[in-house]
Amino acid sequence: MADLDRDAIPRHVGIIMDGNGRWANARGLHRTAGHAAGEPALFDVIEGALDLGLEWLTVYTFSTENWSRHPDEVEFLMQFNVDLLERRRDELHEMGVRLLFIGDRDDPRVPDPVRSRMTAAEELTKDNRTLNMVYAFNYGGRAEIAKAARRIAIEAAADDLDPAAVNIETVARRMYLPEMPDPDLIIRTSGEYRTSNFLVWQAAYSELVFTPVLWPDFDRDELARCIAEYQGRDRRYGGAVDSLGEVDQ
Ligand code: IPE
Ligand code: IPE
Ligand code: MG
Repeated sequence: MADLDRDAIPRHVGIIMDGNGRWANARGLHRTAGHAAGEPALFDVIEGALDLGLEWLTVYTFSTENWSRHPDEVEFLMQFNVDLLERRRDELHEMGVRLLFIGDRDDPRVPDPVRSRMTAAEELTKDNRTLNMVYAFNYGGRAEIAKAARRIAIEAAADDLDPAAVNIETVARRMYLPEMPDPDLIIRTSGEYRTSNFLVWQAAYSELVFTPVLWPDFDRDELARCIAEYQGRDRRYGGAVDSLGEVDQ
């Protein structure tokens, strides 16, 4: 396991779990076998996150753009998420994990069983505090910002909000999960150097770590290695480093 500064563990890590299809293709398997192989990787990472004492872990499980895939793959992913939330929910609960969801779950394309499993998991785990695990499902950062803008417009039209007073806080409070802190670190697997509509608003000052490892091969050791890379970064937030190498706040 990478040598980590236990006093500088990021509070919130986001993961773009990518590369399932390529992992499967490389083995002559159907893409869906890659999604199934991603499940143990996710659970190893959750255990790693608990070990490290992360407060928040957000995983990108289905994007608003993923509907454009072949209907068979989309259907598999919907069913897979229903199964996973059903099979693993109690285990996560026992581990003290609080499950939360971001994304457009009211979208009519989201099957009812997915919606009901989400609500049940949220309800069951609502008092847990060991790890907040956010499941980004039918999630798109742009859709999230558009929804916030729509709410602001509706409130302003109803005279509940002064349009001239709209600021960053006004928008932030209308995100899917206002209590979620911004991610300190966002990891993307599979060697792609993009964020694909993940946490567009919240990632303004996140550190980005890209790894060539395909998601099914990722595990808690890889998580620790990514966090070690994060710990080597200078987070300046637009400030400057003075001649002594200290960051001016
Ligand atoms: C990520 O793996 C999982 C989802 C997007 C649901 P991919 O399915 O995108 O795998 P690649 O990128 O095609 O290898
Ligand atoms: C991002 O991966 C979405 C998830 C991991 C759920 P994609 O595979 O959909 O992203 P692109 O198409 O390579 O940008
Ligand atoms: Mg992909």
